[in-house]
Amino acid sequence: MIAVGSDHGGFELKTHIIKHLEEKGLEYKDFGCYDENSVDYPDIAEKVCRAINNKECENGILICGTGIGISMAANKIDGIRAAHCHDVYSAEMTKRHNNANVICMGGRVIGRELAFRIIDAWLEAEFEGGRHADRIAKIHNLEKIINRKE
Ligand code: RB5
Repeated sequence: MIAVGSDHGGFELKTHIIKHLEEKGLEYKDFGCYDENSVDYPDIAEKVCRAINNKECENGILICGTGIGISMAANKIDGIRAAHCHDVYSAEMTKRHNNANVICMGGRVIGRELAFRIIDAWLEAEFEGGRHADRIAKIHNLEKIINRKE
């Protein structure tokens, strides 16, 4: 199950992404927003990332105007590895090396066809584990040593 969310800046692209997921027969849950009225992207990032952390969803797609704000918000949440990607190579590599559980894009930056390819590359790639797993463990250790104790 893929958690999908956007603010108003990503709403239009999100509607196309949802159609793409449906065409591929992939299950998703839409955490809003549901129209172009202004909303705050941290609220959407929170909903999607909570669904991942409570295992309701396996991974997530987040869209705002640039993809930047919503990725910043998502990466504040323990356990989330959100990759801001606007190219197919990075999308593939962020699964293979970072095991990104969220991918973020800007609805005002890229077109829908590129967004579909980015999502497909990320979903189809496999995490390589090994030394990359050790590095991810170090990322999550930073959540404890920096955010919690200083
Ligand atoms: C909303 O206008 C815009 O700031 C937001 O979608 C996003 O681009 C923030 O990073």
